[in-house]
Amino acid sequence: METKTLLQNRRSVNYFDTNKTLSKTTLEEIINLAVLAPSAFNLQPWRIIVVESKEAKETLKTLSNNQPKVTEAAINMIIVGNKNGWDESNPVWEEMLQTVGSPEIVAGAKQAAAFLYGSSEDRKLKFAESNAGLLAMSIMVAAKEFGVDSHPMSGIDFDGIKQVFQLQPEETVVMTIALGYFDSSKALYPRRPRRGFKEIASIV
Ligand SMILES: Cc1cc2nc3c(=O)[nH]c(=O)nc-3n(C[C@H](O)[C@H](O)[C@H](O)COP(=O)(O)O)c2cc1C
Repeated sequence: METKTLLQNRRSVNYFDTNKTLSKTTLEEIINLAVLAPSAFNLQPWRIIVVESKEAKETLKTLSNNQPKVTEAAINMIIVGNKNGWDESNPVWEEMLQTVGSPEIVAGAKQAAAFLYGSSEDRKLKFAESNAGLLAMSIMVAAKEFGVDSHPMSGIDFDGIKQVFQLQPEETVVMTIALGYFDSSKALYPRRPRRGFKEIASIV
């Protein structure tokens, strides 16, 4: 789908067809396209928990202010950001060494990343959330390309989800995304207007 059309057609879908499941192939295609999202030093400080079973969806719904779309959607994704994704344990550094070939360049990049993203709690959180936020948008765009609709959510119990879905201490729940096929027997509200260039942009 043309990018312009895709961005125009993506909506936060409230009504999912409960009779339609998402195939594993399509799920993999969506994720493998979405991970082309940019990230700082290509560190990809994220992972995705796919919530598919009826029980897990019920649990997530309870932790999402009982929003019905959580159980009506084919699946939900918990977008997890890693606040320590800049540190030595990230396997991407090894890949960078293979690709770039210079230990000095990689060492310099590691040092820069440790300062830029790891030198305060605020920076760690910004690092995790900004990178994983881009992944989230990329997922919604990639899904639309495969005819799959989505709905991002932050009206959720972040701490509760972290606990119940057993995230690591350094991990943070960035948002959840419901994914599935729109229930075409229902109608969405017309899209609400956006504030455009004149309202939000300044040129300095
Ligand atoms: C980070 C984020 C969190 C959101 N959380 C919720 C939510 O918890 N529940 C909900 O109904 N909609 C939620 N939305 C959807 C917005 O209301 C929706 O994107 C907005 O109204 C624009 O509509 P559109 O996506 O159809 O263009 C969220 C959107 C974003 C980007």
